[in-house]
Amino acid sequence: MQVYVYSDPNTACKAAATIFASTLLEKPDAVFGLATGSTPVPMYQELARMNREGLIDFSQCRTWNLDEYVGLTGDHPASFRYFMDDNLFHHINIPYENTHVPSGVAADMKKEAADYDKAIIEAGGIDVQLLGIGNNGHIGFNEPGAEFVWETHTLKLTENTRMANSRFFEKLDDVPTEAITMGIGNIMQAKRIVFLAFGKAKAEAVRGMVCGSATPSNQSSILRMHRNVQVFLDKEAASLL
Ligand code: PGA
Repeated sequence: MQVYVYSDPNTACKAAATIFASTLLEKPDAVFGLATGSTPVPMYQELARMNREGLIDFSQCRTWNLDEYVGLTGDHPASFRYFMDDNLFHHINIPYENTHVPSGVAADMKKEAADYDKAIIEAGGIDVQLLGIGNNGHIGFNEPGAEFVWETHTLKLTENTRMANSRFFEKLDDVPTEAITMGIGNIMQAKRIVFLAFGKAKAEAVRGMVCGSATPSNQSSILRMHRNVQVFLDKEAASLL
């Protein structure tokens, strides 16, 4: 695990964007695993700028997102599909059908999860997986628990996560109680992982990831077992290292 500490999130995001850009230059049909949340927004803006200026081309790129709320359709402003369209896909030249976000409203969620895993494998696996982290160490929506769940699955969100994400909803009651997420296996099978964390609220979880032993009570801690992880932090997120 390589850990880089930057003065501020914008500088860190510009550095992280270069990994996606250089991957696209080497492999125009690269498969990216993408993430939502406030953390990656400046990186998505940087990638959109590079695309606008003709430096990188997404026309053959394929993407699979980590997760989605169960019960929200893609036109709900707090859904992760909406977030991705709004923050990245509508600003780059990726064919819309090349973008994948798990459905939170499939009639059969078990089948949706199994199909999602199958599609990623058929695409050749993830070349670069982007990750943020929850205050409780979650990656994707893999919440702290007794085990690491390997495949894409649905799960109950912790109150901690619902509270942290309530800022995207009118009120806490509106935050869904369940989600569908890629499993730890999907993430660990990515060829390369780009991890971003900013702000003091993430410092404890980041310390567990970088310095602790692998435990499902901090799901991010398993990343130390991956052979190619680059961690981009600001000073605050790195303050307990
Ligand atoms: P954030 O969320 O980027 O909005 O802090 C990250 C996460 O919960 O994984």
